[in-house]
Amino acid sequence: MPEIPREFITRLTESCDIGDVIGSYVQLKRSGRISKGLCPFHSEKTPSFCVYHDTQSFYCFGCGTGGDVITFIKKAENLSYVEAIHSLARRMGLAVPEGKEDITAKRRKTILEINRETARFYHKVLRSPIGASGYQYLRNRGLSDETIIRYGLGFAPDSFHTLIDYLHQKEFADIDIEAAAVAKRSSKGNLYDLFRNRVMFPIIDLAGNVVAFGGRVMDDSKPKYLNSPETMVFKKSKNLFSLNFARKAEDDTLILAEGYMDVISMYAAGFHNVVATLGTALTPEQARIIAKYAKEVILSYDADEAGQKAIQRAMNLFSEVGIQTNVLHIEEAKDPDEYIKKFGADRFRRLLNESSSVMDFQLNRIRSKYRLELAEDKIAYMKDAAYAIAQMDDAVSRSVYAGNVAQECGIEAQILVGRIDTIRRSNQKKEQQKQIRAIIAPSHATSAYKANPQKAEYEKEAAAEEMIISLILHRPELAKSILKQIPENLFITEFNQKVLAVLRQLSDEGQSISVTLLNSQLEEEERTAISAIAAKYDEFASPEKIFFDCKARLEEAQQNKVLQGQAISAEQFMRLKEKKRR
Ligand code: GTP
Ligand code: MN
Repeated sequence: MPEIPREFITRLTESCDIGDVIGSYVQLKRSGRISKGLCPFHSEKTPSFCVYHDTQSFYCFGCGTGGDVITFIKKAENLSYVEAIHSLARRMGLAVPEGKEDITAKRRKTILEINRETARFYHKVLRSPIGASGYQYLRNRGLSDETIIRYGLGFAPDSFHTLIDYLHQKEFADIDIEAAAVAKRSSKGNLYDLFRNRVMFPIIDLAGNVVAFGGRVMDDSKPKYLNSPETMVFKKSKNLFSLNFARKAEDDTLILAEGYMDVISMYAAGFHNVVATLGTALTPEQARIIAKYAKEVILSYDADEAGQKAIQRAMNLFSEVGIQTNVLHIEEAKDPDEYIKKFGADRFRRLLNESSSVMDFQLNRIRSKYRLELAEDKIAYMKDAAYAIAQMDDAVSRSVYAGNVAQECGIEAQILVGRIDTIRRSNQKKEQQKQIRAIIAPSHATSAYKANPQKAEYEKEAAAEEMIISLILHRPELAKSILKQIPENLFITEFNQKVLAVLRQLSDEGQSISVTLLNSQLEEEERTAISAIAAKYDEFASPEKIFFDCKARLEEAQQNKVLQGQAISAEQFMRLKEKKRR
């Protein structure tokens, strides 16, 4: 556990304003004591992320993440609790009193040192005779010495222990080397170098730390790229290759490519605002990171079928985070790297400028499936196009694209617009039915939903109730005083009411509250739900504030007979439940 004095933590949190700190991550809009914004911890289009200025806490009613300013930094920066305190202290210009670092922070630091040494080692090897083949390979692919140095590229020798020997020499312990995942343990229990006979691409985070590696073979053997597994310092879904450089370009546009080599080629050709995912499809987190740095993204994926599929997925994710998305059309080359090599930087720049909107891209794809001179095909094309255009939220855009397609097919625009409107109405109906189905049987049928079906309807209220339950479980010493402050009918959902009643009973009996004790009073399915609740909220740096907020939220909900954010009324809900039972 952290040994930073409590008084310091209090002084630190009092010295900063949570609105200012969170405001540098999230765009907040203030009204009264609450600021609202789009939650940085899950994808949403309407803000349910609240910052409470009087209590200096935050809570997201969409995903249930909440806490104080330290918790926020911990989650936003993916740090340990102690690291988050250090980070905040740096920001506020306060010196953290000397204390023992917590074990996680120490381990992380060691892993980062190992990674840095490893990158240095691979780079040194590349410039030595042992790395000649790797160096030749990179030069043959058109990389200059300058680029090789800028990206810190390296070479892993064809050996099972050269790196390990080197790290031992630097006095790193096996357990840390294994945790850094630059080596693996054999079934016999011996460590061996993970990367062998590969050119190495270090992956660097925004703080300049080497967090992982990608290694490419120099021939056609498989796997072509070997990437580091996830470690304590590396989450694939939260990092982007070359974002450390792209951010410095301070461009409103980011280019997103598929491969390391594409990024490096583009950078060398003068396009510095370019990043790539790390051997996986784009994740929602990465989309959010990109949205943080850019207003517009240009998808610069491979020309093959896989690339085109990936574009579709990426477009959907970017539309969720509300960022303008354009698509690059690459022809006569399989990827941007090859294109630049074949046609040069200037032509690539032209290609970037000619990148088309998402809708153009989709219509082009649809069109390419048909031969428009055939009547049948023309009809099918218009049908598909109408479905695609119907997805657009903006009426003006819909009418422009409908006009284009109609003209192309030689029909009156009005006919196509009518068809699009019909599709939209039918989509809306389907959407409503989906919402109703979700209430009857939540598709996210987690244990919590199974034990507490009302959560589907009273999502926000249940989240507040769970927060209180979790608080009691995590801070049993506060249980008595918290329970005293909860009026009899505060809770709305039955399951949480029951849990609260059990907690009250235990507390009245003078027992010290624990998850184990609570579980002894519950059924199997309910127990799982409790663990989920307890696991969800694990940090209560300012319990009073959190309790106060949750209580206020529930009281407000109690007052509003008609709860907000519902797709259907409570009465309808009960009827549907009845129907399902029969
Ligand atoms: P080259 O130009 O052939 O070096 O590769 P590329 O950069 O064009 O990459 P490609 O389009 O083949 O793949 C895109 C990205 O997917 C790569 O940069 C890697 O991150 C990842 N990738 C490719 N092949 C593999 C593989 O065999 N295993 C894993 N884990 N990832 C791979
Ligand atoms: Mn390539």
